[in-house]
Amino acid sequence: MSRRCSTRCAGSSTSAPPSSRRRARRSSSPTSATRTPSDRSRSPSPQVVALCQAPFLLDDPNVGLLFPADAIARAKHYLSLAPGGLGAYSDSRGIPGIRKEVADFIQRRDGYPSDPELIYLTDGASKGVMQMLNAIIRNERDGILVPVPQYPLYSAAISLFGGSLVPYYLEEEANWGLDFVNIRQTVAEARSKGITVRAMVIINPGNPTGQCLSEENIKELLQFCYHENLALLADEVYQQNIYQDERPFISARKVLFDMGPPLSKEVQLVSFHTVSKGFWGECGQRGGYFEMTNLPPKTVDEIYKVASIALSPNVPGQIFMGVMVNPPKPGDISYLKFAAESKSILESMRRRARMMTDGFNSCRNVMCNFTEGAMYSFPQIRLPPRAIEAAKRAGKVPDVFYCLKLLEATGISTVPGSGFGQKEGVFHLRTTILPAEEDFPAIMSSFKKFNDSFMEQYESYSRM
Ligand SMILES: Cc1ncc(COP(=O)(O)O)c(C=O)c1O
Repeated sequence: MSRRCSTRCAGSSTSAPPSSRRRARRSSSPTSATRTPSDRSRSPSPQVVALCQAPFLLDDPNVGLLFPADAIARAKHYLSLAPGGLGAYSDSRGIPGIRKEVADFIQRRDGYPSDPELIYLTDGASKGVMQMLNAIIRNERDGILVPVPQYPLYSAAISLFGGSLVPYYLEEEANWGLDFVNIRQTVAEARSKGITVRAMVIINPGNPTGQCLSEENIKELLQFCYHENLALLADEVYQQNIYQDERPFISARKVLFDMGPPLSKEVQLVSFHTVSKGFWGECGQRGGYFEMTNLPPKTVDEIYKVASIALSPNVPGQIFMGVMVNPPKPGDISYLKFAAESKSILESMRRRARMMTDGFNSCRNVMCNFTEGAMYSFPQIRLPPRAIEAAKRAGKVPDVFYCLKLLEATGISTVPGSGFGQKEGVFHLRTTILPAEEDFPAIMSSFKKFNDSFMEQYESYSRM
């Protein structure tokens, strides 16, 4: 698929069948339903960054013909925050004025004040996650609880830093929720093997599972972290991508503060966000942040020291983050266009989530929880025993076998569930909901046709 990696960076993508592949390739970004590359140059963040990159344009008498007045004002504002311009290093934690904008955004979102000194800007959320895991892991006996299925950043980074991944299974039957009876048992088993479990990761909304955790589940999670003395790493990069109204996104931080003391004063929480997702989809710009809650000041100082090794996060990415957390407001010249565009993108993604889930659930031996948020569907494929045997004979993991057959027959590219981890003997595939909306009927019908014939082949073979 094209330019944007919002699809690929998360593992890979769903692409359209051959007939529509060329069109889908043109428009595969999360914003693809409405935005082309030329549209992007008119959306607020690239305009502001363009002016910051080329500040001489601000002195051009024609600048007002090319850029709206609010983008010009915002570019001047960021240049005043970064007096050395975009070509100079910034504070290792990020430009203070932009960290203040992030803190204001968090306060508006959660209803509780946020301290810019505890917010670090990063080159995408990935770098922040890596900084935190690096700070937490001391040796191979330090364990991190990671959801399975999981986005592979966590397994890869834990392995790189020499820690131990302690997997906990999300409950597919409970809408990929957290089951603390099982998680408690997992922790006890890890401890009995000499692992010091130090932190727990959640991904909410989930990749690859697409669920939004309920407030109740997050409360249980925080109680659990409190009692087990675990730091919580809350990966909330998909917080803007919500496709239903029953379970809106609620940040772990808000639930923590709503719960009050002693938890709100003691549970150590690090929350991550990015410019890569939402309706922005600016994943190549590498803007992100993490916010630390209840971390001891000495730990914060150490994390600052480690961040300083890399001198500074990239400055244009920081400005993207500033515009994301502080987008055009009512009364700004760009506001109506921005509001219409972002609404239209999110509405299209909501329709695509529904079409994809319904499409999978109409297929034989396929069962899919609704994509409540994020950008993915993760259907379970009940493979007939003969298909599993055929996969073994072909030297392939069964879900890889199925995904390859699907690719060969239709051109639809998906990621086998085994790439994210899954329970023994259960098989999935992951798709994104990002192909162009108009391609969905063709994609889902092509998938159904393939799946019918695959099941027919291996089920009737089983009956022989
Ligand atoms: C759950 C999750 N966390 C983090 C990231 C990394 O995001 P970024 O582009 O901000 O590094 C991704 C990317 O797909 C993701 O799916």
